[in-house]
Amino acid sequence: MQKREFSVGPYEVRGKIDYDKLIKEFGVNKISDEDLSRIKKYTKDLHPYLRRKIFFAQRDLKWCLDEYEKGNKFFLYTGCGPSGPIHIGHLSVWSFTKWLQDKFKTELWFQFTDDEKFLFKGKSYDEIQKWTYENMLDVIALGFNPKNTHFLIDTKHAGLLYPEAIKVAKKINFSTIKAAFGFTDSNNIGSIFYTAMQTVPVFLPNILRKENRPCLIPLAIDQDVHFRISRDVVEKLGYHKPAILHSKFMPPLTGMEGKMSSSEDNLSILTTDSEKEIETKIRKYAFSGGRSTIEEHRKKGGNPDVDVSYQWLTYFEDNDEKLKKIYDDYKSGSLLTSELKQILIEKLNKFLKKHQEKRRKAGKLVEKFVLKF
Ligand code: TYM
Repeated sequence: MQKREFSVGPYEVRGKIDYDKLIKEFGVNKISDEDLSRIKKYTKDLHPYLRRKIFFAQRDLKWCLDEYEKGNKFFLYTGCGPSGPIHIGHLSVWSFTKWLQDKFKTELWFQFTDDEKFLFKGKSYDEIQKWTYENMLDVIALGFNPKNTHFLIDTKHAGLLYPEAIKVAKKINFSTIKAAFGFTDSNNIGSIFYTAMQTVPVFLPNILRKENRPCLIPLAIDQDVHFRISRDVVEKLGYHKPAILHSKFMPPLTGMEGKMSSSEDNLSILTTDSEKEIETKIRKYAFSGGRSTIEEHRKKGGNPDVDVSYQWLTYFEDNDEKLKKIYDDYKSGSLLTSELKQILIEKLNKFLKKHQEKRRKAGKLVEKFVLKF
C-alpha cells in the first residue's frame, strides 16, 4: 500500500502538511475575514495568531458568536496530555486560549489526560503523575486567572468524569474508533475507551452549573479527530456540539515536516531549556532557508517560507512591521541566517526567562486551579 505523503492525528503527525487539503478532509471551515471581523468586534484587536492565520480553521464559530451576542456566553475548554516536558508549540495554543479568556472574560476548563498518556505511552503511572504536576506549572505560568480556570485531572476527577464518560462510550462503536484512529486488535482496551474521557468536558460544566452554554475549544488540528466523534455523540445526549478553533503546528527545528514534539528533545525547545541550550539547539539544528555561502545569500537571498527561525518568529514577534522587515531583509539577502538566528535566540530567551520565573512560583498556586468537587 502506498503511504500518504502526510498524516495528521492525535497519535501521529507526519510529513509536509497541506492545510487546505486537511480542511477538506476533516470537513472544517477556513476562518474567513468575516469571522475575524466578528471576533474583532468583541475583542477590539486581533491576536497575532489570528492575523497570521496560525489559527486557520473552525467549526461552528458563527453559532458560538451568535449565542454570545444573545447573551449566552461560551466557556473555553482545552487540555494537555502529560507525558513529557512542555515545548513552545504547546504554549502557542494555550497562550492564545489565555487571550480568549481575557478578552471574553470566560471560564476555562483545562483537562490533564493522565489516563490517556498512561495508556498510550510506555511510561509508568508514577512517571505520568510527575509530568502531570510539571505540566500544570507551565499552564499556570502563562498567567491564567485561577478564579476562572479549573483543572480536571482524569484519574483524580474520575468520580466526576466517569459517570458521564460511560454515557458517551455507550454511543460509540469500536468500529468508529478503529477507523478514526487506525487502531488494530493489538491496541489495549483502555485506549479504545479514551475518546469518551476527552468528550466529557464539552458538557460537564453545563451539568455542574445547570446551564446550557456553548463550549469553545482551541486546539491544534491533530486533536480534531477526537472531537469529530464527540460532536456527534454529545448531540445524541442532548447537548450542543462544541465550537472549535484549529491551529496549525509549530514546526520542529529540523524543518517544515511533521510537528514539534516533546518526545524528540532535539527537535523542540522545551520550556525548561537553559539559555545556552536554546542557543545551541537553534544554531546547530534550526533548518535554514539560507544559501550555502554568504556571497550567494547576499546575491540571491534566502527563503523565509521554509526557514524555521523565521517561522518561529511568526509566533514570538508580535509587531507585524518588524516581522515583515525581517521577512523582506532575509528574502533580499541583506539579513544573514546567523543574524536571523540571533534575533530568534534573543526573543526566545527573553520570553522563556520570564516564563521560567513564573513557573518556579507556580507550585504554590496548583491547589487554586485544581477543581474541588
Ligand atoms: P497534547 O498534550 O498532545 O497537546 C496539547 C495541545 O498542544 C497542541 N500541540 C501543538 N500545537 C502547536 N504546535 C505543535 N507542534 C503542537 N503539538 C501539540 C495540541 O493540539 C493540543 O491542543 N489529548 C490531548 C489533551 C486534551 C486536549 C483536550 C487538547 C484533552 N482535552 C481538549 C485540546 C483540547 C493531548 O494529548 O494534547
